[in-house]
Parts: sequence; structure tokens; C-alpha cells
Amino acid sequence: MSQPSLTIALSKGRIFKETLPLLAAAGIEPQDDPESSRKLIIGTNDPSVKLLIVRASDVPTYVQYAGADLGVTGKDVLMEHGGEGLYELLDLQIARCKLMVAARPETDLEPRTRLRVATKFVNCARRYFASQSRQVDIIKLYGSMELAPLVGLADAIVDVVDTGNTLRANGLAPRLHIADISSRLVVNKASMKMKHAAVRSLVAQIAAKTGQ
Ligand code: ATP
Ligand code: PRP
Repeated sequence: MSQPSLTIALSKGRIFKETLPLLAAAGIEPQDDPESSRKLIIGTNDPSVKLLIVRASDVPTYVQYAGADLGVTGKDVLMEHGGEGLYELLDLQIARCKLMVAARPETDLEPRTRLRVATKFVNCARRYFASQSRQVDIIKLYGSMELAPLVGLADAIVDVVDTGNTLRANGLAPRLHIADISSRLVVNKASMKMKHAAVRSLVAQIAAKTGQ
């Protein structure tokens, strides 16, 4: 019997770059580079495996609705999505960063009035501040969050921080830690049942490479 086909959704950029060695460990080599190709479905040397190039924040949605069997996505994106319809299989230990509350160093994060927080991680932010019994006003942004406190749009932001260079360059500082982040391999719940052997074999090879 031939292998069932597997599709893996992932974003170009840092996730694609850092996933390449893990796929290579499973014997999978992409046939195109998403940075130079306009193709959204990229074949591999394994005729049963295809890569789907999607926005980072769309990976869980593709996997949830079986647009892809598997996906590689940041834990931040997964926390924001909620994780419905999928299983988290592996911590790939790539694209590590932290989800933080950041603000100007002098900003009082315990003001008497409600704090205004700008972020693309609205669910994570709401959950985090609720867990601290803090009421906040959340302003949804799609990027360049660091600008918001500089122009008075918000008191603080919630964003991922790695080196801290982006915050520093904009006169902001990391203030409160929400979560340690790395990328995860996720699978659609139905694919996990229907394509169990193929998924398990891929996971085992990647897990061996990550030392798990
Ligand atoms: P979208 O396409 O939805 O706008 P994005 O452009 O933020 O997403 P990437 O920059 O490729 O997507 O980030 C993908 C993932 O990599 C993030 O979800 C996060 O887990 C991680 N990440 C983001 N920024 C950094 C960073 N500076 N250092 C390390 N990991 C990061
Ligand atoms: C991410 C994030 C921060 C920055 C943090 O942006 O949105 O701005 O990284 O990293 P640092 O602490 O090392 O500076 P990214 O580089 O992915 O650019 P983008 O948000 O425009 O995709």
C-alpha cells in the first residue's frame, strides 16, 4: 500500500529556515525556496509530503480545519488561537523567544486607571491580565506594536521579545513575563487518526533530531 500523503503548513522566514534541518532529519528536502518562489504548495523529494506556505498566524487555522495535516507554529500563535481541532505533538525548540508585556521604563504598570495595552495577541493579553485580576483596555494591532506607547496610543504592549533590540531601539523595556515561547509541531485531530503511522514516523524522526 502506498504512503498516505501529508501536508505541512508553515510560514516562510525564520520558521521555515529553522524547520529545514528538522525536515532533513526525516529525509524531507523542499524542491523550492519560498523566499524566491511564488508557489504556495512546495513539493519535496518525498512524493507523499508537501509544504504549504501560509501566514504564521494562519497555521493553526489551516490545521484545525484540515487544510493541512500538520503545522509548525509558535506557541504564541497557538495560545492566541486556542488550539481547537488540533494536537500539539512536539516542542521543536526553534524560534525561541518570550511573550512579554513591554512599556517605557518609567511607565507605572499599576495605575489607578485602566491600563491601555496594544497587541496582536489580544486573547493572550486578556487572559494574562485577567489572571492578575487586572482590568485593561486592549487595542488590536497587526504589527509595529512598539510604536503604540511612543505616540500615546497605549501604555504598554504585549509582543514577543528575543534579544530586546527592537524594544531598546524604541525606548521601551521588557517589564512582565507572560510565557516562554518556541515552535511546536501540531496535527489535525482527524489526520492523527486516519494517517497515524505516517504522522508517528515523521514525529519520531524529528523528535530524534531534537533530542526528545
Ligand atoms: P505573521 O505572519 O502572522 O505576521 P510574523 O511575521 O510575526 O507572523 P514570524 O516573524 O515569522 O511571523 O514569527 C513566527 C514565530 O517566530 C512567532 O510566532 C514566534 O513564535 C517566533 N518569533 C517571532 N519573533 C521572534 C524573534 N525575534 N526571535 C525568535 N523567535 C521569534
Ligand atoms: C519580532 C517581534 C519583535 C521582534 C523582537 O519581529 O514582533 O518586534 O521580533 O525581537 P528582538 O527582541 O530580537 O528585537 P520580527 O523580527 O519577526 O519582525 P515582524 O514582526 O515585522 O515580522
